[in-house]
Amino acid sequence: MSMSDDLRTIEAQVTEGLAAATDLDALEALRVSVLGRKGKLTAIMHSMGKLTPEERPAMGKLANEVRTRVEASINARREELAAELMEKRMAADACDVTLPGRRFSPGTQHLINQIREEIEDIFCGLGYTVEDGPYVETTWYNFTALNAPEDHPSRSAKDTFYVVDNAPGSVAHAEETNVQGESDILLRTQTSGVQVHVMEQKKPPIYMICPGTVFRPDTADANHLPQFTQVEGLVVDEGITFGDLKGTLDYFCREIFGRDRATRYRPHFFPFTEPSCEVDVSCGVCGGKGCRFCKNTGWLEILGAGMVDPNVFEYCGIDPEKYTGFAFGIGVERVAALRYDLPDLRMLMTGDMRFLKQF
Ligand code: DAH
Repeated sequence: MSMSDDLRTIEAQVTEGLAAATDLDALEALRVSVLGRKGKLTAIMHSMGKLTPEERPAMGKLANEVRTRVEASINARREELAAELMEKRMAADACDVTLPGRRFSPGTQHLINQIREEIEDIFCGLGYTVEDGPYVETTWYNFTALNAPEDHPSRSAKDTFYVVDNAPGSVAHAEETNVQGESDILLRTQTSGVQVHVMEQKKPPIYMICPGTVFRPDTADANHLPQFTQVEGLVVDEGITFGDLKGTLDYFCREIFGRDRATRYRPHFFPFTEPSCEVDVSCGVCGGKGCRFCKNTGWLEILGAGMVDPNVFEYCGIDPEKYTGFAFGIGVERVAALRYDLPDLRMLMTGDMRFLKQF
């Protein structure tokens, strides 16, 4: 067979191959088999030297023409296949821009955090600092330094979650357990322990609050949660009196519940304050006349407070002859329940968006 026959055969094969190549990979394989380094056409171009000088010009011209046509037809087919591919992709990815979009549901800050921040704002406005303390405490911070006697019932495992860790060498090893045989490490039952941390670290004057989570082994019901939020408050300065306590907490109650609410101070007992009291606000549902919400008393209890016991100052290395102070503990879930007339505290823990979105 002559070289010109070979060239025509190759060109015919390319024409057939182009029709058969249905994707870019197949087309590339075809191009390599003809025009690649080891391709059929390349081989012919390389064998030109074997021709006689008379044959060479005509054959060279023919070979170049074939190569130009083959390249052009491969390029044209490549563009065709690329366009097809693009169209297929566009069809697959097509979206109906006239459909309504998906609505974003950004949620809201949880009611408890809203109220916690509101309380922080009120006291920051009075010049208080906001402090933090550990959730996992020792009996010293949660009870002993707060003047709670060794046999105080709140120390028992019925009222406190102890962190059971009696491995030899651990902090809670047998020798360091308290008289009731419980471990020395616990989940704090109150934020009052932060008073001790702050008094150990700072010298008076101290004006601070500490919001935080506390834990108690209570079964959740309408009025109890095993985990809830308190805001502790502590003031230590020269010449602080019960009048300062009352003025501060009256101001707080009006800010948080509204100017029309009255307050009442009832004597109470806390180990770390003397004298101690519980503070009530007038019932917002009946305006103080008495209803089911306030159990017909006209009052709702919202916090505990008192003048810091001198023993606590002594435990914390503060001179009780020089300084006096007051402390208070607010239950944040209780404030939420009283402000929004919530019938059941568990509503705050369920994560039910229909409920939470109202706030
Ligand atoms: N720690 C108390 C409780 O959990 C609340 C409390 C009462 C805190 C009186 C105080 C206080 O600082 O003075 O019930």
